[in-house]
Amino acid sequence: MKQKKVSKAVFPVAGLGTRFLPATKSIPKEIMTLVDRPLIQYAIDEARAAGIKEFIFVTSRGKSALEDYFDSAPELESALRKSGKDHLLDILKDTNMDSGAIAYVRQNRPMGLGHAVWCARRLIGNEPFAVLLPDDVIAAEKPCLQQMIEAYAETGGNMVAAMEVSPDKASSYGVLDIGNDMGSIVEAKGMVEKPPKGTAPSNLAVIGRYILSPKVMTNLNRMKQGAGGEIQLTDAIAEEIGDGKVFGYRFRGQRYDCGSKAGFLQATVAFGLARPDLREEFGAYLNDMVALQKAAQ
Ligand code: G1P
Repeated sequence: MKQKKVSKAVFPVAGLGTRFLPATKSIPKEIMTLVDRPLIQYAIDEARAAGIKEFIFVTSRGKSALEDYFDSAPELESALRKSGKDHLLDILKDTNMDSGAIAYVRQNRPMGLGHAVWCARRLIGNEPFAVLLPDDVIAAEKPCLQQMIEAYAETGGNMVAAMEVSPDKASSYGVLDIGNDMGSIVEAKGMVEKPPKGTAPSNLAVIGRYILSPKVMTNLNRMKQGAGGEIQLTDAIAEEIGDGKVFGYRFRGQRYDCGSKAGFLQATVAFGLARPDLREEFGAYLNDMVALQKAAQ
């Protein structure tokens, strides 16, 4: 099946990040670093690897540090050049976006994820598009969105990243009602946002990567309130179910919930241990810590 190429991605980054106060009083949550790279950099790299060319940020007040992060930094660059720190200049290259490749739209009231995505409607137009939630950081040999783009080339329709979670956690997620289960690809016969405890149709949860048809934007026009009184992306996608038009994709990789402190710390440890320049020293320290804790018990 030949699908229209997915070249645009929406990054909803308007949230207040209250779970990380006081840090987020003055820095956007998406600028918080895993080792030495801001959360948003991981999402951007993943999108680039999947062939995304246009990056649409849905922002809010107080997020200007994000705009600066993706701009060139002439003074810094010339200082590094003068002092011969070419390896640092190379690192900075990943943060520079071509003029016009990145666009910012504002969400002026927090009305839910669906509403945030809808704010990008004029820039998306009549094309399929991706959505990446930067809180969900996914470590994978082949980046998650790339895996999904390949699967989408076969299925078309709408696709959400999916992962099995423990039943007691299902109420924190969008959850799929599983129709035809083909292994990594699952046809959804229903989808519900934050199901009350004990009512989830399965334990297959939606994770923050989506490939969506422009029809989802049209569905969002109706501004239907869902779970928590918010306009939910899950609900607008669920409206597309029927004729096998919504698929879950069980990605290969490890997902970290960097919207929570515990998840953020776990990701920090994992990414620290994955770094050749830190592995040895950091790994030895962690081993010592574990040994000390065991001895204290
Ligand atoms: C959002 C989505 C939810 C999804 C989750 C994944 O919820 O609304 O469907 O399961 O991201 O991280 P949030 O975590 O923003 O409450």
